[in-house]
Amino acid sequence: MRKARRCRRPRSRNWTAYGTSQNGKKRMQAELQQELSRRLFAHLDAGTTDVWPEVVRQPVSAYTCPERAERENQELFRRRPLFVGLSGLLPNPGDWITSDETGIPLLIVRGRDGELRAFANVCRHRGARLVEGRGCGAASFSCPYHGWTYDLEGRLIGLPDERNFPGVERDGHRLAPVPVAEKHGMVFVQATPGEPFDVDELLEGMAAELAPYRLEGWTPYSSRRFDFSMNWKIAVDTFLEPYHFPFLHKDTVASIFIGNLCLYDGFGPHLREVLPRHGLREMREKPPEDWDLVDNSALVYVFFPNTAFIVQKDHMEVWRCFPKKGGGPGASTVLFDFYIPEPVRGEKARIHWDKNVDLAVRTVIEEDFPTGETIQAGFAAGVNAHVTIGQNEPAVAHFETTANRYAAA
Ligand code: FES
Ligand SMILES: [Fe+2]
Repeated sequence: MRKARRCRRPRSRNWTAYGTSQNGKKRMQAELQQELSRRLFAHLDAGTTDVWPEVVRQPVSAYTCPERAERENQELFRRRPLFVGLSGLLPNPGDWITSDETGIPLLIVRGRDGELRAFANVCRHRGARLVEGRGCGAASFSCPYHGWTYDLEGRLIGLPDERNFPGVERDGHRLAPVPVAEKHGMVFVQATPGEPFDVDELLEGMAAELAPYRLEGWTPYSSRRFDFSMNWKIAVDTFLEPYHFPFLHKDTVASIFIGNLCLYDGFGPHLREVLPRHGLREMREKPPEDWDLVDNSALVYVFFPNTAFIVQKDHMEVWRCFPKKGGGPGASTVLFDFYIPEPVRGEKARIHWDKNVDLAVRTVIEEDFPTGETIQAGFAAGVNAHVTIGQNEPAVAHFETTANRYAAA
């Protein structure tokens, strides 16, 4: 079996573009930054927040019904492109990653031409899994079972004892392709065959806003995987409102972020939420050209259905939430990836990033998700026919009602 090894950093990218920029205008368009900041100031003055037009009552069955869960598996997770990660996961030709979370094994590989291609990670002989994990610099992939070998474009280039396979055309036994797209440093893949797609179109206007972050230059620092006894949507909800900050996070991030104040904007099924830091109050004393919203907030971009992409002051957090394979509606798998602007140089940087990883993981894994598990467990009591989503939780309302629409029978 092919072994994973450490990837080289790409040769031709500007690794300091983000790290040396202390000017928020370079990370977010100035007009957008000022518009969002003014909306936040108005809310601060009025003691208000962005709101959804009405209270939403989401039936408990959205989290407990096996048929609903199966529809979500098919419609949301297998027939839509899902976010995989940033280009830095596989920066060089021959770099590859695998993914199994939708229940369909996938292999994504960067070709010699620099293009990404994705395939079912399934040998065309008798169907064994071709590779496990991730790796770098591959020239080809050989099946561990009988050695059928494929090149980076999925062509069958090696078939041991081929004379005993009369009529088995190599061309008809390429790896089965699935759609993959890469743009602005982001990679999306669809688990089942379908039409090619474009990241700009997929994200319905959000991609242009993300382009200035120059995500193609970022590098993965840390990845974790967790299983929880809660529906995957409850995991996503965690990231979508600061109403809970002063209560659930009173000992962690409540001292950093303003509670119960957020901005919400929808981009088709996707959304952006701005969670302001307390530093926003000082920022407003400065002239608008010196405002830096990235420094003074967390920007949560939800790539529907399952990814919270969080732009923090100096790093990016990605939380991808999946139904747990074979776990039914009440179980989820959450993948956490932490990206930094440039490769780690020295112990001081490592200590800094470890501290940031620890805070993110501790807050979410020790506070948010255990609470989510109590929600799932509580459904069994039959006390609530629905969960109630307040007008001050607009991103939750957007996400849950969108999921309902896409999973509609
Ligand atoms: S199953 Fe792959 S070579 Fe036989
Ligand atoms: Fe939280």
